[in-house]
Amino acid sequence: MASPWSPQSWQDKPIRQVPEYPDQAALEAVLTRLRSHPPLVFAGEARNLQSALAQVSAGKAFLLQGGDCAESFAEFHPDNIRDMFRVLLQMAVVLTFAAGLPVVKVGRIAGQFAKPRSEDTETQNGVTLPSYRGDNINGSEFTSAARVPDPQRLLEATAQSAATLNLLRAFAQGGYADLHNVHRWMLGFISDSPAGEQYQGLAQRISETLDFMAACGINSETVPQLRGTDFYTSHEALLLPYEQAMTRVDSTSGDWYDTSAHMLWIGDRTRQLDGAHVEFMRGIKNPIGLKCGPSLSPDDLLQLIAALNPQNIPGRLTLIARFGSDKVAEKLPPLVRAVKREGAHVVWSCDPMHGNTIKLASGYKTRPVDRILEEVRSFFAVHRAEGTHAGGVHFEMTGQDVTECLGGAQAIKELDISSRYQTACDPRLNASQALELAFLIAQGIRDERIKSAGRVASA
Ligand code: PEP
Ligand code: CO
Repeated sequence: MASPWSPQSWQDKPIRQVPEYPDQAALEAVLTRLRSHPPLVFAGEARNLQSALAQVSAGKAFLLQGGDCAESFAEFHPDNIRDMFRVLLQMAVVLTFAAGLPVVKVGRIAGQFAKPRSEDTETQNGVTLPSYRGDNINGSEFTSAARVPDPQRLLEATAQSAATLNLLRAFAQGGYADLHNVHRWMLGFISDSPAGEQYQGLAQRISETLDFMAACGINSETVPQLRGTDFYTSHEALLLPYEQAMTRVDSTSGDWYDTSAHMLWIGDRTRQLDGAHVEFMRGIKNPIGLKCGPSLSPDDLLQLIAALNPQNIPGRLTLIARFGSDKVAEKLPPLVRAVKREGAHVVWSCDPMHGNTIKLASGYKTRPVDRILEEVRSFFAVHRAEGTHAGGVHFEMTGQDVTECLGGAQAIKELDISSRYQTACDPRLNASQALELAFLIAQGIRDERIKSAGRVASA
């Protein structure tokens, strides 16, 4: 029997990645304010997302999760939110069309601030300071003042999350996300992209489909689904005092929901079975994710699944594989087999970012687009071989034209990296790299669909 859970039961467990606030009373005062802050999301929305993810786990939908590695106060601007939203929607249309399946859209946005770090301290030119842990905790500038955790930052991050979510809701339901708009943006991308020709075929088929639908009387006026879309938010549930303060009993169901986002996930560095993060996450009823990295054994995974989803509810748990292009073919199959053998309902998603980070001689962290794509391809191949559903992808990306990841159709090279390197943390795909990847993945899904249709037809 598991011991009783409460929103603060994590406090009795060993915890990693905690900032040390020098002024505990100031932190308490902020948390007290947050406990009466209006929820950012409503529990019913989290349940809707869980139902949508249940469809993914049953192989009837696909998950697209993406956004910033870390949101920042400096990059907080309506244009950045709009551009991110636009790219995600364009990727979703491409994937929907290719897979012939609904795509569940989840942003790493409106709360994705706190970052786990490999080292507690950072040394530059002989000076050692605490590591930067995300704008909701401390500042990224390399000064001792900026690196002190400041609880007031939590209030600013919460206000930024609320304003971001407000705009996203307006975009999603107010007409901006109309399918015809999204398709127009895509045609613009194709005409500007150096590799545009390669995507013309798919775009043409979408144009023809929309024309055909219009001719049949299916348009944004007659079918409201074409006018808007469901868009959900997510972030890593790392800073537990904050997540606890945003966790409330839902009056409809009587269950506890973390109202800081629709979906929360556990990072690869904080997934210890007896640790604080797993304890907190097992009790909230939101759909949750678990990052699965190279050190995770099949036995550990099964124990985590038992702790996090004891009733085996479809859509509750998304396993986000992040092995690296060189390890995924070896490390993923034993996990997929163990989960399948156990009959556990999960969504399998691929994060091809976090296992493919390299450091250049110039000191910049980057990720080669080729390796990102390679990991996605291997992920699909493993699921094909195991007879399981490759359910989704998880990207770090931005709507801006940054130069943080190497390669892609723009052929960003080592020397270009410094020109627009803006991330607050890890290197992100820029808008055109993200969309190119969606096209390439779409092509893979399509080929697979055609192949399996062929197998059915000849059986
Ligand atoms: C992240 O998603 O930003 C992250 C830190 O990932 P992981 O926990 O997989 O390293
Ligand atoms: Co990251």
